[in-house]
Amino acid sequence: MIKRTYYLETFGCQMNVHDSEKMAGILEHEGYTRTLEPKLADLILFNTCSIREKAEQKFYSRLGRIKTIKARNPLAKIVVAGCIAQQDGKKLTARAPYVDFVFGPDNLKYIRDIAAEVAKEQFVLSENPALTDEALPSLREDGIRAWVNIMYGCNNFCSYCVVPYTRGRERSRPSRDILMELRDLAGKGYKEVTLLGQNVNSYRSDCDFPELLRHANDIKGIERIRFVTSHPKDLSSGLIHAIKCLDKVCEHIHLPLQSGSTRILQLMNRRYTFNEYREKVEILRENIPDIAITSDIIAGFPQENDLDHEATLQAISSIGFDGLFAFKYSSRPGTKAEAISGHLDESEKSKRLNDIITLQNNITDKKNKQLEGTVQTILIDRPDAKMKPGQLTGRTTTNKIVLVNNAASIPPGTILSVRIVRAHRHSLIGERISSR
Ligand code: SAH
Ligand code: SF4
Ligand code: F3S
Repeated sequence: MIKRTYYLETFGCQMNVHDSEKMAGILEHEGYTRTLEPKLADLILFNTCSIREKAEQKFYSRLGRIKTIKARNPLAKIVVAGCIAQQDGKKLTARAPYVDFVFGPDNLKYIRDIAAEVAKEQFVLSENPALTDEALPSLREDGIRAWVNIMYGCNNFCSYCVVPYTRGRERSRPSRDILMELRDLAGKGYKEVTLLGQNVNSYRSDCDFPELLRHANDIKGIERIRFVTSHPKDLSSGLIHAIKCLDKVCEHIHLPLQSGSTRILQLMNRRYTFNEYREKVEILRENIPDIAITSDIIAGFPQENDLDHEATLQAISSIGFDGLFAFKYSSRPGTKAEAISGHLDESEKSKRLNDIITLQNNITDKKNKQLEGTVQTILIDRPDAKMKPGQLTGRTTTNKIVLVNNAASIPPGTILSVRIVRAHRHSLIGERISSR
């Protein structure tokens, strides 16, 4: 067999990271080995993201540079997968004719045909993608923590968002398939799983999401269960009860608020008011006092005025998130928000984003400081290259990163009790107490 190599670069969210694991799994099954040098690859694969203009620009500039590689090695195949592929389709190949194949997130399995070179023509799929529910072999390198899809697509059509267009309508995987995958991961020694969906709260197949969590909680070997993302409108008391009662479900919820102004939330088509959001946070905290709540905010949505922005800042300080991802609003072609009047200029969006980040940094510092002196259990990660000798890293159940010094003999995958001795903004420093 001729030895073939592939180069793979991933942009975007956890879904894309996991889709890349599946494509890598297929390619390696077809006999390909990975190279980190695009110029040495027979197949150059980009898994792309179109959530914001910046992500898109980053990919197109990478693609531009690949052109010279293709000119030097015309036999190399260039493949574009993911959300830009789905959205731009033919436009992409018109702009970059040296691209050989294009397919969207619902057609990952085409990489098999491309790898086996049975593909005769370009796959340009911008409408009615075939559904991919079948289990594709994933190449997961971590060995301890794994991503698992529980649903695909999104039905929410938030007015700013491309995901419903790039990932299609919501489909939930049958619970049997998900649980089989979890048991298989447990058998391979995985300790933590993160269940993935754009809106896991609306998971519904033969059971609903809280019930899926109950079944997952029963799987021996899996020690921690996480999930992303939760849409506030669908956060049910059943789910709150599940987080509270199921010992393996981690005390962390990522609950994107987007804006503290109900007027803007309406323009965003989020289908909750700020008060409704705040009430849900209160119920979460009454039931699970130590829960960490993280969120996403969009700065400078069209028509957002100073009062709306103030309301967002007010919301951030009154709720006190454990962490926040804040983004400047980015107008996406084909979305409803693109057509709304009153877009803000870049400098105003940057200023607002900066206000949000500065405020949250203070909150994060305070929240982390409160953890000094507490005891936390962490799941030890695989060592990474940036770590000093003798250093370990792991995450608390609330998903905070902890560094532990002088503890290198403890194997990855161990659950360890540590006392937090110092808090930084992006990590905590812990001292070892005991392991179990
Ligand atoms: N399904 C998830 C979000 C997926 S996108 C949810 O609804 O929570 C991740 C985040 O990107 C969103 O929460 C939003 O804050 C941000 N985002 C999405 N589209 C955007 C846009 N056009 N401009 C700026 N930020 C955007
Ligand atoms: Fe986008 Fe809204 Fe769906 Fe999240 S819920 S993926 S923000 S449309
Ligand atoms: Fe990007 Fe697609 Fe994810 S647009 S954020 S890769 S769903």
